[in-house]
Amino acid sequence: MRYSLLAAAVAVAGVSAATYPNPLGCSGSCFTHDPSVVLRGDGTYFLYSSLDLLSIRTSKSLEGPWAEIGSVIKNKSVIDMDGNDVLWAPDVSLIDDLYYCLYAVSVSGSQTSAIGYATSSTMEPGSWTDQGMILESSPSSPYNCIDPNLIRGNGTNEFYILWGSYWEDIYQARTAIESTYVYPSGNQKQIAYNTPDNGFYMEGAFMYHHSGYYYLFLSVGHCCDYDPLPANGTEYHVNVCRSTSPTGPFVDDTGLACTEGGGKTILASHGDVYAPGGQGIFHDPKYGDVMYYHYLNKSVSVNYPDSKFGWNIINWENGWPTL
Ligand SMILES: *[C@@H]1O[C@H](CO)[C@@H](O)[C@H](O)[C@H]1NC(C)=O
Ligand SMILES: *[C@@H]1O[C@H](CO)[C@@H](O)[C@H](O)[C@H]1NC(C)=O
Ligand SMILES: *[C@@H]1O[C@H](CO)[C@@H](O)[C@H](O)[C@H]1NC(C)=O
Ligand SMILES: *[C@@H]1O[C@H](CO)[C@@H](O)[C@H](O)[C@H]1NC(C)=O
Repeated sequence: MRYSLLAAAVAVAGVSAATYPNPLGCSGSCFTHDPSVVLRGDGTYFLYSSLDLLSIRTSKSLEGPWAEIGSVIKNKSVIDMDGNDVLWAPDVSLIDDLYYCLYAVSVSGSQTSAIGYATSSTMEPGSWTDQGMILESSPSSPYNCIDPNLIRGNGTNEFYILWGSYWEDIYQARTAIESTYVYPSGNQKQIAYNTPDNGFYMEGAFMYHHSGYYYLFLSVGHCCDYDPLPANGTEYHVNVCRSTSPTGPFVDDTGLACTEGGGKTILASHGDVYAPGGQGIFHDPKYGDVMYYHYLNKSVSVNYPDSKFGWNIINWENGWPTL
């Protein structure tokens, strides 16, 4: 979610050969960054975004028209930390009749960050209760506590939180949930990493279970500040690794470990689309598995406030997602 501390660009062969589809359209209020999409039982789509205390948009279809109807948090998060009146990277899931919205508190360039959460039974603005902190990081942590994602494992009360980060990339902790209480209950573990020399930092992890595999989707490269533009190919793009276990080890389609810089690229800049990332996946009753993300339109602007909601249908080919 945050921009790179290292403006030093690295020469990279890039990810140019593949072709990628254009996003399948958005009308109405289409700003998003680090989106989270949830389809409520009554057929209403909810789109959550970074900024504005986690803005909420709703629509009767993925194409829109989207309308902004409020925010998850009022005034500021109960977490007492710089950035608690902005908030980043909502991750909303329904678990046993209650919606959990994980979010990050931070400011750009700071490793003093926290992951908090709010709960609601309806997802409507005003219905959310801010429950406070789950995890925090400081300059002595190996990671930065941003970009949370919650996934259910296979056992009783087996959940995992993923998070991170320009600092040693993606971490995970086993997590338990008791009613409105979410707490890490296991060791923290690095599940994806690229050496700083490679320049390809990873953020925005999102895990999705499909046909016996846990797929780890990653936003890789430079985020958010594109003035000046980083070297072609080093801006945000989406990679995926997989494992038969939610705890890994995760590998890409060539067998390269995700902790050694592995990752199959499934979406990158193309045409007008620049720096797609902040992705999530959900199963839509009409379209099947859908990947949604934010992107910038190079013909319009590469400024953060112009980040736009994009989505495509996932095709599973030989055990790997393609768009
Ligand atoms: C939240 O902000 C509103 C004004 O926007 C103010 O009236 C209210 O007192 C604030 N609430 C808290 C708990 O700070
Ligand atoms: C879930 O657990 C059951 C019973 O232990 C096992 O048979 C099954 O293969 C597991 N599924 C996954 C996806 O791990
Ligand atoms: C980067 O790519 C764009 C088009 O995709 C091209 O116009 C530009 O020249 C490239 N810049 C460099 C430095 O390769
Ligand atoms: C980018 O913006 C141009 C100009 O508004 C528009 O014609 C084009 O469809 C947009 N492309 C995408 C992928 O949003």
